[in-house]
Amino acid sequence: QKAEDKLKSQLGEEHLPKQGFPSEEEYEQKQGCPSEQDQEDLPISPSAEMSLTTHVSSMDDYNSTYRRSIEDPGEFWREISEEFHWETGPKGKFVEHNFDPNVGDVFVRWMPGATTNITYNLLEKNIREKCLGSSTALQWQGDDDVETREVTYDHLKTLVCRAANMLKAKGIRRGDRVMIYMPQTIEQVVAMLACARVGAVHCVVYGGATAEYLADRVKDSKCTAIITADFAGKDGGRQPVKTEVDRALKLCGREHFVRFCVVVRRVGVGDQDTWPKATGSQESSVPWCDGRDYWWQEEMERVDDECEPEWMDAEDPLLILYTSGSTGSPKGVIHTVGGYMMYAATTFKYVFDCGNVTNKVHFCTADLGWVTGQSYVVYGPLLNGVTTVLLEGDPLKANRIVSMVRRYSVTSLYTTPTAIRHMKATSGSEANYKLDTLRVVGTVGEPIATSTWRWYRSTIGGDHCSVVDTYWQTETGGHVMTPLPGATPMKPGSATLPFFGVEPAVLTDDGTEMVGPCEGHLVFKSPWPGMMRGINGKPEKFTSYFQQFPGYYYTGDRCRRDGDGYYRILGRREDRVSIPGAMGQVFNQLDVEATLLQHPDVEDVAVVTTDPTDDTGECHSGGYDNWYIFVTLRQTACLHAQTIFTNLREMLATSLHVFTPPSHIHCASELPRTWSDKVLRRLLRKVVLNDLDLGDFHVVANLKSLPKLFRQCRDMQ
Ligand code: WTA
Repeated sequence: QKAEDKLKSQLGEEHLPKQGFPSEEEYEQKQGCPSEQDQEDLPISPSAEMSLTTHVSSMDDYNSTYRRSIEDPGEFWREISEEFHWETGPKGKFVEHNFDPNVGDVFVRWMPGATTNITYNLLEKNIREKCLGSSTALQWQGDDDVETREVTYDHLKTLVCRAANMLKAKGIRRGDRVMIYMPQTIEQVVAMLACARVGAVHCVVYGGATAEYLADRVKDSKCTAIITADFAGKDGGRQPVKTEVDRALKLCGREHFVRFCVVVRRVGVGDQDTWPKATGSQESSVPWCDGRDYWWQEEMERVDDECEPEWMDAEDPLLILYTSGSTGSPKGVIHTVGGYMMYAATTFKYVFDCGNVTNKVHFCTADLGWVTGQSYVVYGPLLNGVTTVLLEGDPLKANRIVSMVRRYSVTSLYTTPTAIRHMKATSGSEANYKLDTLRVVGTVGEPIATSTWRWYRSTIGGDHCSVVDTYWQTETGGHVMTPLPGATPMKPGSATLPFFGVEPAVLTDDGTEMVGPCEGHLVFKSPWPGMMRGINGKPEKFTSYFQQFPGYYYTGDRCRRDGDGYYRILGRREDRVSIPGAMGQVFNQLDVEATLLQHPDVEDVAVVTTDPTDDTGECHSGGYDNWYIFVTLRQTACLHAQTIFTNLREMLATSLHVFTPPSHIHCASELPRTWSDKVLRRLLRKVVLNDLDLGDFHVVANLKSLPKLFRQCRDMQ
C-alpha cells in the first residue's frame, strides 16, 4: 500500500496503473533477488587468452600506468612522444594550460615549438622503420559491394605526395583551409593527408550533406579550395555530389571566395590502373566552371611523386571538424598537429590493441566527416601501421558489416549502438556468425543498452572478444573513457574507466566535486594532448566549455559513477528525462529505453519530455505526466503495434515499477538521426509539440523521416 499511497499523493488517482501495484511482499521479494540492474554491475573479465598478448595485461598494470600519467603528465607524454618523429624538439614547457576563465584566457598547449608532420609519421616512419611499404594501408569497398581497391603504404605515399604537389601547384600554402566533401573513397583519405603534408588545414564534411549544410561550413571555415567528386555510389546507382558543391557556392555569394575545386572522378575508379580519362567541361552531367574546376585524375598526372613534408609546429592546426550543434551556427572544433597525432595514435594502440598481433585489420564504420572517422578510420590506424577498411555508403545495408568482417578478416570492429541494434534486429534469433578473426569490438556515439551490449559481445564478438564502450567527443579528439582489452573487467553499458592522462570528476549542479558512487555532471580536471584547442572564429564558444564550472572542462554529459569507480554515461544534460518509480526511485530516459529494448520486436526507442527546461537547458521536473516514447518496430511486427504497446507498458510496470504512463507511444518507421547515428531528441520534442521551428535541420542525415513523424504525431493527438 505504501507505494500506492505515495504515488497517489504525488500524481493523483487518474495515473494509477490499471493492473495494480505489486504488494509490499512482492516488492521485497523483487528487491531480494538480483535484478537486471544488479547483474549489470557484475564485471565480466576479459578472456585469459586475450590478456596474454595485450599491451596492458591486468588491472594492476592499468592502475600503475594510469597513476603515473596523472602524477606527472608531462613526463608520461614525453616518453610517448619518443615513439614519433619530431624534426625539432619542444621549446619551453612540455604542457601548459589554464582551465579557469576567471584567471585569464583559457588555453592548452602541448609541446609548443616542436615540429613534425603527421604524414611523415604515418608514411615514411612506417615504411622505413617498420618496413611496412608493401603492407596494405587502405582496403576500400564501394557502395555496390563489388568494386574494391587496395592501397599499400608505398602506394599511399606516392598518392599523397602527388596530391600534395597538386595542391601546392594550385597555390595552397600552410595555414590555408581546404574543404573536403565527397564519398568515402581512397581519394578522400589521400586528400586529407595531402593537406596535412603541405600544412593546410583540412575540413571534412559528410559526403551526403545538403548544399545548405556545406555552404554554412564553407563560410565559417573560410576555405579557399574544395576537394570533391562528380558522384557518389549509392544504391547501385550514382548520386550527384559536384552539383551540390555548385549549389553551395551559389548560396555563399561573392564574399566567400573559393579559388578552385578539384573533382575526383568517382565513377569507374574501381580499377586504379584504368581510371577513365576525364574530359573536363565536356562532361555534360557534371556542372563545371572552367578556370575554377579541375579533374583530380588529370591534375595528378601533371605532378611529381616526391614531396617533402612541411614541418609544422606541434600547436599548428591540423583539422577543423564541425559538431552537430542544435542551432544554425556551425561550431568548428580545431585539433592540432602534435597533440592530436599523439593522442589518436596512442588511444588506437591501447584501445584496439594492435601491438602484438600481426596482420591487424581494423574496420570502423564511421563517415570521415565525423571525428570517429578522422581518428579511427584514418589517423589512429595509419599511424600504427595497420590496415584500415574503408566503406562507401550506408554500413547498415544488407548486413554488410558482418560480410565485410569476414571478407577482410577484420581483427577489430568499431561501430555505433544504432548499427549494432540494426544488426540484431535483422539477424535471425539463431545467428551464429563465427567471426573468428575478431578480437576487439567497439561502440561509440551514444549510450548502449545492456541487452544490445550483450548481443554484440556474444553474437558478433563470439563471447571471447573484449567490448570497448568508448566514450569521447569531437572536442576530446580521442577516447577519454574506455575499457582496455585484456585488462579492464567489462560491465555492459559502462564506459568503465578513464584513459591514461584523463582525470574525470563528477560535479553537483553547484559545482562541488563528489566522491564515491554518485550521479552528476561529467567534467575533466586536466588537459590531455588530444583535446581541442579552440572553436574556429568563436573564442567565446571555446571559453563556454569552462565557464559553467571554472577550472574544469565540462562535457555537457551526465554520468553515474558506481562503487568500483566505473562511469556510466547518461547522455546530454538537455536530454534528461526523470520518471518516478513506485518506490520513490527516479529513473532516467536510458533506464526506460534499456527496458523497452528488451522487447524482441523493438528495434529502436527514444524517450523525451516536453517539460520546460531551465536556463542551462536542463529539464527539471521531467516526465511526471508529460513524457513520450518513440519506438521503431521490427518490420514484421508493425501489424501488432497496439499489442506491443500494451506489452511495453507492462514491461515498465513489472521491470521498473514505473506506473506513470507515457502520454503517448509513437510508432515511427525511423527516428531522426545525425550523420553520426545520434538520435536527435531535440527534434522529437518539436514533433511532440508540433513546433515546426526546427533550428538547423540540415544536421539530420535521414531528413525524409521528419515530415512523416510530424504527420503521424498529429494524427495521434
Ligand atoms: C555521446 C563522438 C555514451 C556523448 C565520438 C558525447 C556517448 C557525444 C559515447 C559526443 C559512449 C559518445 N557512451 N555516450 N560510449 N560516446 N557519446 O562529438 O553524449 O559526435 O558528449 O563524438 O556523444 O558526440 P561526438
